[in-house]
Amino acid sequence: MTKNKIRPGVYVYPMPVSIIGTIVKGKPTFMALAWINVVEYKPPLIAISSFESHYTNLGIKENQTFSVNIPSEGMVEVADYVGVVSGKEIDKSEVFEVFYGELKTAPMIQHAPINLECKVVKSINTTEFSEAERGHEIFIGKVVGAYADEYYLTNGIPDITKVKPFIFSIDNKYWKIGEFLGSAFSIGKTYKKE
Ligand SMILES: Cc1cc2nc3c(=O)[nH]c(=O)nc-3n(C[C@H](O)[C@H](O)[C@H](O)COP(=O)(O)O)c2cc1C
Repeated sequence: MTKNKIRPGVYVYPMPVSIIGTIVKGKPTFMALAWINVVEYKPPLIAISSFESHYTNLGIKENQTFSVNIPSEGMVEVADYVGVVSGKEIDKSEVFEVFYGELKTAPMIQHAPINLECKVVKSINTTEFSEAERGHEIFIGKVVGAYADEYYLTNGIPDITKVKPFIFSIDNKYWKIGEFLGSAFSIGKTYKKE
């Protein structure tokens, strides 16, 4: 096999699909977001990267809060919908049934299996290292509340086989999660190079 040098890009496989919630002009609004990552676990910190002209960014910046909602396979169409229309043109406040936790400006989606309410602890604008005129805003949020229906839990932890999250590939496709492969922090212990 030959290693081809390909165009540099963000080929991070896979990317989880999340739905970010916030409040703009007194109303809930949501957008799909795949550029999301865990940055710390104590306290739990999550980073999201959202293009600076998105309507959602207005709410995050004003309230310094946002929600992360993990949709299940059955929500693929609605997740895509909130990722193709902007709150600048279309009111997305009625798309989901919402509930609130501790933060009153982080609307969470009742129907999504996992909901996290986050408080912004740091914001970074990528414009200084962007080659484009406008960049993304990275919001690092501290998870102050996490919610899941009993149905999705096993031993108190969200169970991937019940949550059925789906993933996004850079060629603009959605995929289901596959089969169990092995136990982490364990399967490698007996590894030997052949
Ligand atoms: C699957 C998917 C993933 C997306 N991921 C991101 C992302 O990580 N960051 C981003 O800025 N926009 C992302 N988008 C685009 C926004 O969701 C989209 O532009 C949306 O309309 C913005 O809504 P708003 O203007 O109401 O905030 C994604 C869209 C889709 C469909």
